[in-house]
Amino acid sequence: MSSRFGEEGRKLSYGSYLKVPELLQLQQGLSGEHDELLFIVAHQAYELWFKVVLDELEATRDRIDADDIFFARHHLRRVYVIEKLLVEQIEVLETMSPQDFLAFRANLAPASGFQSVQFREIEFLSGLKEPKYLARLEATPEEVERLQRRLHEPSVADAFHALVARRGSPSLLDIFHDRQRFGDLFDLCEALLDHDETFAHWRARHVLMVERQIGSKQGTGGSSGAQYLRSTLGKRFFPELWEVRSQL
Ligand code: HEM
Repeated sequence: MSSRFGEEGRKLSYGSYLKVPELLQLQQGLSGEHDELLFIVAHQAYELWFKVVLDELEATRDRIDADDIFFARHHLRRVYVIEKLLVEQIEVLETMSPQDFLAFRANLAPASGFQSVQFREIEFLSGLKEPKYLARLEATPEEVERLQRRLHEPSVADAFHALVARRGSPSLLDIFHDRQRFGDLFDLCEALLDHDETFAHWRARHVLMVERQIGSKQGTGGSSGAQYLRSTLGKRFFPELWEVRSQL
């Protein structure tokens, strides 16, 4: 039964329910430089939203499995709106001058966004499964286990393909041409594409910010930096939903 009292028997408050004191303890910079707080909070905010995106993508997959397209789209809509926020949020980091970033950048090497486990989980759960990232990850055993699970469990793309099979295996062209009959599947395709396209926006936006901050320098994670990131811009969760457009 839910209680209005916290663990210590005290009445719940804003701070105790949301664990605000604990949350505000989690920004421990290494340099004492002014902009490091912004840098840490921006990344932590991303990880918190990644957590919600993963939860919503799981719900999407489960609703598709249950042939419940209405609620699958409901969850995908939330994913899309959060991702738009994540694209916008990059601008906050662009208020940091490259000189001010350089003042603490060396302190955080070899840490890098490249090691974000939840980012890879979102890729895997959506349908973009690249096992090579598992080998290159600096992660706890619990995180490795989570990522392994994502690699082997059905993705949103798998759930979509299974749904189409249950509906008699129409081709994507059939779905796009006969909206009278397949309107709900078509709407789902477009909602999946919204997720895919917004994630691609994030990649493009991130690499521009990286060029603005560090130009063509190597990344703290050891990659070629912007050059590596540019090589990821063509990644798609649902390539067939993009390809079908050329066949219409
Ligand atoms: C000053 C800000 C930032 C800079 C200069 C920067 C730079 C870079 C660089 C150079 C890489 C390539 C890997 C490496 O060698 O390190 C990278 C990858 C990555 N960064 Fe950032 N980043 C910044 C902010 C962020 C933020 C706020 C996030 C949000 C979580 C983020 C997430 C990622 C992810 C997920 C990758 C891996 C991308 C992939 O492999 O496709 N970065 N970043």
